Amino acid sequence: MWFLNKICTSKVRLEGKTVVITGANSGIGKETARDLYARDSLDLCSLKSVRDCAKNLLTNEAAIHILINNAGIAAYPSYEKTQDGNEITLQVNHLGHFLLTLLLLPKMQKSSPNCRIVNVSSLAHFMTDIDFDDINLERSYGPIRSYAQSKLANILFTKELARKLKEADIHGINTYSLHPGMIPTRLFRYGDRALFPGFTFCCNMFTHLFYKNAEQGAQTTIYCSVDEKIANETGLYYSNCGVTTPYRKANKHQYPKKLWNVSCLLLHLDPEKDFTTILETVSRQMN
Ligand SMILES: NC(=O)c1ccc[n+]([C@@H]2O[C@H](COP(=O)([O-])OP(=O)(O)OC[C@H]3O[C@@H](n4cnc5c(N)ncnc54)[C@H](OP(=O)(O)O)[C@@H]3O)[C@@H](O)[C@H]2O)c1
Repeated sequence: MWFLNKICTSKVRLEGKTVVITGANSGIGKETARDLYARDSLDLCSLKSVRDCAKNLLTNEAAIHILINNAGIAAYPSYEKTQDGNEITLQVNHLGHFLLTLLLLPKMQKSSPNCRIVNVSSLAHFMTDIDFDDINLERSYGPIRSYAQSKLANILFTKELARKLKEADIHGINTYSLHPGMIPTRLFRYGDRALFPGFTFCCNMFTHLFYKNAEQGAQTTIYCSVDEKIANETGLYYSNCGVTTPYRKANKHQYPKKLWNVSCLLLHLDPEKDFTTILETVSRQMN
């Protein structure tokens, strides 16, 4: 009977713990995995946390074949910097993933071929441009602007990483970016404070007209992560389980390289160094 049901109220974290769950693709196992995963320790607001998480993965995992950079925040209500000195949306949505990817790449290289890096972007990338002179938006912060910029960065990073891997003669690791569709999730949890009271309600009403549920919304990410048909594609942008052309600014000739360079500088890396040297430097910074 429902009133006899109890829930686990423990808030214990699982930093440094490895959990193996059999039968985790459905039912109780899936729910258990979902809950335990939420107790993991990766906080993209902290580059130290990203480095700690990568160290943990590199130490404990024999191989890494697929990296899905999915976490994100949107419409953060006020201008805020992380302890690392970066605008919070830029760091959570782009820079933290940029760093994590570079840290995990050597292990992925050893795990290749058939490795994939999947960056969850958004159609919202069309809404703004990147100000390369003020990527932290100190002069022109806006809650939507910061989100759109970070999602444009996801696409540019995907392109440039594909190019860098090719240039460095590293094969067997392909990169993908995507728009998952519109899904009523907790993404716009700050919307009421950031934009106007009732924004989240309006947003959810709107998304309900065009929406996908979470299972449908995950399909393009899954497609990019596993589908054999696109095993030889890299650096491209996908929507609705198919490749598509992103908006104009994502196709600007020098943008991927410029984004790469400015991201390196924010992580105190020399963008003029070759890719292999950058990977070595970033790994050293972890210790
Ligand atoms: N929903 C849409 O309509 C839509 C459309 C286009 C693109 N997207 C993209 O889809 C991705 C997933 O979003 P969603 O819709 O599933 O939103 P969501 O329900 O809010 O999920 C976002 C995830 O990111 C995590 N996260 C947030 N801040 C983090 C941090 N500092 N460190 C580590 N993890 C953090 C959240 O964890 P906590 O809950 O613990 O904070 C949550 O697991 C995002 O990249 C988003 O931009 C979504």
